[in-house]
Amino acid sequence: MHARRALLYMPGDDMRKILKAITLGVDCICMDMEDGVAINRKAEARATIAQALQSLDFGRSERLARINPVGSGLEVADLEDVLPARPDGIVIPKLEYGEQVQWVSEQIAHAEEEYDWTPGGICLLVVVETARGIINLNQIARADPRLEALIFGAEDFAGDIGATRTQEGKEVFYARSAIVTYAAAFGLQAIDMVHIDFQDHEGLRREALEGARMAFAGKQVIHPNQVAPVQEAFTPGDDAIAYALRIMRTFEENQQAGKGAFALDGKMIDAPILKAAERVIALAQAAGKL
Ligand code: COA
Ligand code: MG
Repeated sequence: MHARRALLYMPGDDMRKILKAITLGVDCICMDMEDGVAINRKAEARATIAQALQSLDFGRSERLARINPVGSGLEVADLEDVLPARPDGIVIPKLEYGEQVQWVSEQIAHAEEEYDWTPGGICLLVVVETARGIINLNQIARADPRLEALIFGAEDFAGDIGATRTQEGKEVFYARSAIVTYAAAFGLQAIDMVHIDFQDHEGLRREALEGARMAFAGKQVIHPNQVAPVQEAFTPGDDAIAYALRIMRTFEENQQAGKGAFALDGKMIDAPILKAAERVIALAQAAGKL
């Protein structure tokens, strides 16, 4: 799976921002057709995204396009205009039912057949950001083999249930935690909420590190200034990598000596700690650090 430490959105009708995005070294670039685009600019966004996909070099950044919700009446034209330009993946917002994932997957399958592309080559990411989406995570997470990531939308979720957003975020914590849990159960990536106050660097760093500790693979971002701090927060530090490698080495030695649990620097190490160390190494590898 592609590293998705930061997933940067920009309005799909804004070529200037797309041109900026491809210079940032960001893991994922998500060109939006949904809420970032005014209702009278949807056609412009579709055309601009298709043109960007066909003409620009995105380097190592993943090329994603976010369509309007399934059932909005806009999604058919979004897919018709953007799929022929072959994005790497489609992001579906306000996702509530497994059938909605399957419907988009079928539309992609038709395009793959029509253009003779590798079947299954275009992936799906879904934004779960309503009460119904959260209670249906079990059917959503297992809906389709193209699905690679569950994304949490905190602002929409709070609006949907009628909660007031706070800095602390207790009002969205159950849903945020449900996303990582279902993602882990079905081998998907979990991608954390946007920090909309893009001038608040300290708050962003704190929230990103908290998301990383909760096992999110990355975070949605909305401004170029958020890319580097977020990608750093989701990349294990040198000390963490060295410690993880030491745990893996000493674990193996102790296993061979017949010990399942042992002490390292005054702390108990056993199977779950080894699993955590292996995860750190996998993240370091995905970030190109090992
Ligand atoms: N992607 C790429 N480039 C961006 C960007 C983004 N998301 N947000 C800002 N930029 C660019 C600006 O175009 C500007 O470039 P320039 O100096 O070459 O003109 C530069 O970064 C600085 O931008 P700044 O002036 O600080 O911000 P702004 O007032 O122009 O824009 C927002 C603020 C919030 C409107 C803008 O960041 C944005 O559009 N974010 C994404 C919104 C979105 O997609 N929402 C839907 C998903 S949640
Ligand atoms: Mg949303």
